[in-house]
Amino acid sequence: MYLAQISDMHFRSHGRKLYDFIDVNACNAEVISQLNALEERPDAVVITGDIVNCGLAAEYQVARQVLGNLRYPLYIIPGNHDDKAQFLAAMSPLCPQLGSDAQNMHYAVDDFAMRLLFIDSSLAGESKGWLTEETLLWLETQLEQGGDKPTAVFMHHPPIKLGSAQMDSIACENGDRLLALIDRFPALCRVFCGHTHRLIFTQYRQAIITTIPGTVHQVPYFHENPAPYYNLEPAACLMHRLIANTGLVSYLHSLAPYAGPYLYDANISCPVDEK
Ligand SMILES: [Fe+2]
Repeated sequence: MYLAQISDMHFRSHGRKLYDFIDVNACNAEVISQLNALEERPDAVVITGDIVNCGLAAEYQVARQVLGNLRYPLYIIPGNHDDKAQFLAAMSPLCPQLGSDAQNMHYAVDDFAMRLLFIDSSLAGESKGWLTEETLLWLETQLEQGGDKPTAVFMHHPPIKLGSAQMDSIACENGDRLLALIDRFPALCRVFCGHTHRLIFTQYRQAIITTIPGTVHQVPYFHENPAPYYNLEPAACLMHRLIANTGLVSYLHSLAPYAGPYLYDANISCPVDEK
């Protein structure tokens, strides 16, 4: 299994920029081109929410057009910036697993040696996240049925406070319910989120809990300052690869331009000094 996880694309309507100066649509189109051009091709691409910025049909029209160019299976979940109904209408043709009920979007992918469970943690009209009783019951049932098979949950909001003054107040408010499932099910060993626009990881029991950068704009981490800053640090995504006898290995993959790669040459790296 080899997955690319991207997050928080925040598409705008045609011709509109984010905060009037960030061309998210063009940047996201470039990200899709980069993923399509990867030398080692992932089995699928996962997007952990905030597909668009304002939940508008016109934004989803752009998102659907750009994401439609991706040449991999796509697993998508919504975030707080998404509108559940608009999201489902636009994204279900790209990700049929989403089903047809905008209030209960969740699905399992059993194609790999690791189970992948996708849930919707968004709460209409709110920035914070919330897991409904239906979602929690579905998750519990899936974990009961999954047995010992290593399992990862993908959701937009982190289920635990990460010490960020800006983001902790809008994390998943009842994330403790997910932590209780981590307590009960040892197979649940990863939770991959978006929302914080930054690579952050922590651990709760056997589960590594990770948030990832956005595809375009990022959020600085301050423990004490809750001001809603954003910035244009280089964008990145996470690649997840199952390695025999090791398990899941995840690494950061830059989405920003950079020089290289250069092929290592020992003669140049450590030349014998001339006298
Ligand atoms: Fe976001």
